[in-house]
Amino acid sequence: MRTTRTWTAAMALACAGTLAAAQEGAPVEVLHWWTSGGEAAALNVLKEALGEQGIGWNDMPVAGGGGEAAMTALRARVTAGNPPTAVQMLGFDIQDWAAEGALGNLNDVAEAEGWDEVVPEAIQEFSKYEGNWIAAPVNVHSTNWVWANAAVLEEAGVTEQPETWDEFIAALQAVQDSGKIALAHGGQAWQEATIFDGVVLSTGGPDFYRAAFIDLDPEALGSETMVEAFDRMAQLREFVDPNFSGRDWNLASAMVANGEAGFQIMGDWAKGEFINAGLTPGEDILCFRVPGTEGAVTFNSDQFAMFDVASEEARASQAAMASNIMSPEFQIAFNTVKGSVPARTDISDEAFDACGKKGMADLAAASEAGTLLGSMAHGHANPAAVKNAIYDVVTAHFNGEYDSATAAEELVNAVEAAM
Ligand code: GAL
Repeated sequence: MRTTRTWTAAMALACAGTLAAAQEGAPVEVLHWWTSGGEAAALNVLKEALGEQGIGWNDMPVAGGGGEAAMTALRARVTAGNPPTAVQMLGFDIQDWAAEGALGNLNDVAEAEGWDEVVPEAIQEFSKYEGNWIAAPVNVHSTNWVWANAAVLEEAGVTEQPETWDEFIAALQAVQDSGKIALAHGGQAWQEATIFDGVVLSTGGPDFYRAAFIDLDPEALGSETMVEAFDRMAQLREFVDPNFSGRDWNLASAMVANGEAGFQIMGDWAKGEFINAGLTPGEDILCFRVPGTEGAVTFNSDQFAMFDVASEEARASQAAMASNIMSPEFQIAFNTVKGSVPARTDISDEAFDACGKKGMADLAAASEAGTLLGSMAHGHANPAAVKNAIYDVVTAHFNGEYDSATAAEELVNAVEAAM
């Protein structure tokens, strides 16, 4: 059994030189949806690392949060018989492409570098197909976070972190009464679904979340608890500004960063925006779990799936890209910028800000406690067809098309039809 050390940034940097010496490798064409300021800053870390090893980067960005548009663009490329070298992918999408036989095999580099010993089981479930490594995990994000502008809260007289849902509603009300936008939100289905991850977890707890979104139990999906979760979404609807519809997530993050708004409920990629804006997480921007979800984590891991390409040079570059992604040096350099936490359990938290340290501790604790749950909104609880069916009901309810009882009924019907 390999003994795993805990990598610090200094140790990782010292070892970085041993990565593949610079040799001209086939360039990699990479399809991804990291187009915001914080995302682009994080992606540059990977581009530059590969560039130093003589591996060029042909960028194929497809804007659209949560990867919806990117997966559509990917399907078109593969149908045309011309897949990219590597694609940013989430959870069940990786498994679906692997089942189609479209992905390459990363076992050689995974075995040589001991990935099995350091990548959490919950992530490996998506990185491997039939026991073979077919994707390299870049990070672990989580969605049940609230971000808050500390100065806005202070001006509104919100001096305590809300611990319960009612305290959170009271804090939102105080910020609204102070003349600020209480909840910064972008009215897009994937963003409402991202909020819904934490609201369902907060309302029913981890076992209920698992029954509803992972087991797709119609009893849970249509339950009174789910009706209450939709009621909570209706409460949040009263705290967004009139121009929320269609707003991109990073523009909502900017409203919190510049003090226009008090709160945002969003995955910790929002932290990448705050860092990119020069703000200090844990001080200028406060972070806490959606009230009622402390102790549990709804996670999603960004992975680069390597498509099955013919040329040996392209495969060598894929292996080099995967090796870079999994290197401790990259896992620290990338995740401290991206807002996520490392996809390896042997990384020290010393280089991470207060919110990153909390994120790493929460991930380890939830892993241990069996409260680490795949994000429904970001493709880690169920396949895309089911995820999109849930999106449709949640956004219809948020936009007033259904009352909460009807929404729960529609949820049962929509999930059943998508399975
Ligand atoms: C998530 C992805 C994050 C970020 C976010 C917003 O699905 O894991 O890295 O890109 O979408 O688009």
